[in-house]
Amino acid sequence: MSAVQQGVVVAIDGTSGSGKSSTSRGVAERLGLRYLDTGAMFRAITWWMLTHEVDVRDAEAVAARVEEPQVVSGTDPTRPTITLDGADVGVEIRSDAVNAAVSPVSAVPAVRARLLREQREIIAEAIADGPGIVVEGRDIGSVVWPEAPVKLYVTADASARAARRAAETGGDTEATRASLEARDVIDSGRATAPLVRADGAVHLDTTPYTLTEVIDQVVALVESAKAKA
Ligand code: DC
Repeated sequence: MSAVQQGVVVAIDGTSGSGKSSTSRGVAERLGLRYLDTGAMFRAITWWMLTHEVDVRDAEAVAARVEEPQVVSGTDPTRPTITLDGADVGVEIRSDAVNAAVSPVSAVPAVRARLLREQREIIAEAIADGPGIVVEGRDIGSVVWPEAPVKLYVTADASARAARRAAETGGDTEATRASLEARDVIDSGRATAPLVRADGAVHLDTTPYTLTEVIDQVVALVESAKAKA
């Protein structure tokens, strides 16, 4: 055991709408850990580009302005917050406009490089100062924090994902399914840090389970990793 005790990092990656967010928050709450939604950071940058008339399909235009927005992520799992240049954008980042633009913006290497730096700072602070952090995204176990002692790759059937997401947002199930699948194709196919099952990640297909059952399974994995540390 090292002389300096550090908190645990739980890396939860997976497809859009697989139940990652509810699972990550539930696990963090249950174990008293911090929580970081990296998707919200990509969404905030995307919202900034949309509201500053940057052509989100033009990677060079996006890269040229990527250092301008100020993004601050709150890491309380009971009340996650995200601010952009000081304003709360929790609602705006879930809009259809952001859903349609976030995958191309996230594929721009300069966007990823900027957020990678900030994500690593938040994680390092959380494990130095406290019991640890649950981090959800697409590349947490593969790129952001490959040394995480617990890594999950969370998936669910497309129909189950669309039904859950449409129930949350009140949207149409078929349109939601098309939007989720379109994002998956871009997120998995991009050149920089695509969605992959990281080395050592446990694959969890949430389709047949309730949220509580999924949280129970992840909490058990964290407890077992902590016992081995
Ligand atoms: O988790 P989410 O659906 O809110 O993420 C929105 C988008 O952000 C997702 O389609 C791809 C991108 N993203 C990413 O590229 N890397 C991450 N670590 C998290 C999200």
